[in-house]
Amino acid sequence: MPGTDKDRSNNQALLKWVEDMARLCNPDQVHWCDGSDQEYQRLCAQMVEAGTLIELNQDKRPGCYLAQSNPSDVARVENRTYVCSKDEKDAGPTNNWVDPAEMKKTMNGLFDGAMRGRTMYVVPFSMGPLGSHIAHIGVQLTDSPYVAASMKIMTRMGQQALDVLGDGAFVPCMHSVGAPLEPGQEDVSWPCNETKYIVQYPEERAIWSYGSGYGGNALLGKKCFSLRIASVMARDQGWLAEHMLILGLENPKGEKTYVAAAFPSACGKTNLAMLIPPEGFAGWKVSTVGDDIAWIKPGEDGRLYAINPEAGYFGVVPGTSSKTNPNAMEMMKSDTMFTNVALTDDGDVWWEGADGDPPEHLTDWKGNDWTPASETPAAHPNARFTCATTKCPSADPAWDDPAGVPISAFIFGGRLSHTFPLVYQSFDWEHGVYMAATMGSEATAAADNQAAIRRDPMAMLPFCGYNMADYWNHWLEIGKGLADPPKIFRVNWFRKDGDGKFIWPGFGENMRVLQWIVERAREEAEAAESPFGYQPRHQDINWTGLEFGAGDFDGIMDIERAGGAEEAEAQKELFDRFDDRLPPEMEAQRQALAERLQSAPEVWRVSG
Ligand code: OXD
Ligand code: MN
Repeated sequence: MPGTDKDRSNNQALLKWVEDMARLCNPDQVHWCDGSDQEYQRLCAQMVEAGTLIELNQDKRPGCYLAQSNPSDVARVENRTYVCSKDEKDAGPTNNWVDPAEMKKTMNGLFDGAMRGRTMYVVPFSMGPLGSHIAHIGVQLTDSPYVAASMKIMTRMGQQALDVLGDGAFVPCMHSVGAPLEPGQEDVSWPCNETKYIVQYPEERAIWSYGSGYGGNALLGKKCFSLRIASVMARDQGWLAEHMLILGLENPKGEKTYVAAAFPSACGKTNLAMLIPPEGFAGWKVSTVGDDIAWIKPGEDGRLYAINPEAGYFGVVPGTSSKTNPNAMEMMKSDTMFTNVALTDDGDVWWEGADGDPPEHLTDWKGNDWTPASETPAAHPNARFTCATTKCPSADPAWDDPAGVPISAFIFGGRLSHTFPLVYQSFDWEHGVYMAATMGSEATAAADNQAAIRRDPMAMLPFCGYNMADYWNHWLEIGKGLADPPKIFRVNWFRKDGDGKFIWPGFGENMRVLQWIVERAREEAEAAESPFGYQPRHQDINWTGLEFGAGDFDGIMDIERAGGAEEAEAQKELFDRFDDRLPPEMEAQRQALAERLQSAPEVWRVSG
C-alpha cells in the first residue's frame, strides 16, 4: 500500500488492522498523522486549495478558518446511530439496535472501496492526559482531512499517542465520508453521503461511522468513543464515562472544589463551563477542566477523580457574545476552526447573537448572499467553533493532570418551566442517582405548564452505550464503593412565573447557586428539608449585587404538591420501559417521593 508508514508503530494488531482496512476501503494513499503543527498547517492549506476551508482575514483572525458543510450534514444523526450489542436487551429500549452480524455485512458493503481517490489518514489519539491511568487510546481511520485536522485540536493526537499505546489495546474507529472519487472526477468542498450510519459494537469496543463528516458523527473520539464505547468500558472496569463539564471553584480562602455537571443540549452548558463570577464575588475564581465529557474513576482514598478526555472544545457559536461567554469570545480570536457560521465581506465571521448589529451584507453558511432583511439565519443554529483547551482563558491549571481532579459534587440540570426548584440536593447517593435518572427538559420551551418532559437520564440518552437501566445500576454500585461520594444536586435555571417569564435573572447569576452547592459539598451551608430534597433558604444564598427578595425566591423554590405528584406519576412511564432490568431502588425512590408529597402542604415554601 503506497505511503504505509510501518515504522510509526510496532503494534502488530494496529498494523494489521490498518492494512486490512486499507485493503477494504482502497484509498489512493495512507497517511499516518504525527500530530505536529506543521502537519496541521499542511492539512489546512490543502483544504483551502480544495475549497473545504476558507482562510479568514489573518489580521482579524490569525490562524482561523471557516468550513461550510453540506446542508444535509449539519448535526449528529441520532436516528442513524446504533448500539449493536449481541443481545438487543443489552442495548436497551433507548438505543437503536441491529444484530451485529447483519450490521457488519452492511458496513463491509458500504466501506468496500469507499475511500477510492482519497487519502486514508491514520489518526492515533489519547482520550485523556497522555499516560493517565484514566485515559485510553483510540485510532481513527478517516478519509476526511477536516476530521484529521479537527482531531488534532480535539484530542492529544499523533505520534505521542502511538508511543503511549506501545503494543497495548486501542479502540478502532473507522470513518468514511462515503464519497469515493472515480479517476478524473472533481471533488466537492464537503463530501458526504445521504446514507449515514454511526455504529458502535460495545462488546468489541469498535466504532464504524459512514456518510457524515460533521461533529459527533465524524470526530469519533467525542460521543462515539468517549461516551458510547467508554460507558461500556466503564461499566466493565468500575468507573464512569459521563456527559459532564468539569469546573473548579476556588473560594476567597483559596480552597478549591471541583464539580461535574450534566445538562441536555440548549441548557447553557458551555457558558456554565466558562462562567465568570459576577461582581460581588470578589476572591472567587472559576476555572474549566472540561466543557462536555468527564471520565471519572474511584481513587484509593474513596473519592472520585475526573479527567476531561478531550483537549479542545467543539462549542455551539450562535448566541455567544461578550455578554454570554467572554472566555469563548477570547478563544475564538485566533487558531480556531469555524464551521457553518457566516462570512463577512472583509473575511471575518459573524453569527446570530454576536456582539453589535448585523453587518449590511454577509455570505451565509450555505454560501448565499445575506442581508439583515433575509428570512433565514446567516449562521446555522448548530454552527461550531473548534479550539484547543490551551487557548481557554479559564482553563484550570490541572486540566491536563493525569491524576484527574477530585469531584465533590455532581450537578444535573434540565430546562423546565414549572414544578422544579432552582436548586436542591439529594438526601443521599441513591436518591441522587434517582434524581439524575429522571431528569429531562421540556420538549418545547413553552410557557404552557403542561409541556411534556423529554426524559434525558444523566443527559446520556443519546450517548449511553448499553441498557440505561443497567447504567443506573452501575451508578448505584459505584456509590456503594465510595468512602466520600460527591453530593448530588439538581438545578433548573428555566422556571417561569405565572406570566410565562423566566424567574431567574440569567446565566450570569448561576455563581450564586454554585456557591451554595460548593458550601454544601464542604458541609459549610445550611438547608431546609423539602419533599424533593435539601433546599437553600433565602439567607443561605449570597445575594451581593442582586435584588432578589424572599418572595422572588419562594417563587423559584416552592413545590406544589399536585405538580410534584404528577411528576412522580409521570416518571413511571420512563421506568416501565425497562421491565425487569430496572433497579428496584429506582421505583422505591419514586414511591418514597410520592409518599413525601402526600404528607406535604399544598404548597411547600422554603420560607415556611
Ligand atoms: C454536543 C452535544 O454536541 O451534546 O456536545 O450534542
Ligand atoms: Mn455534549
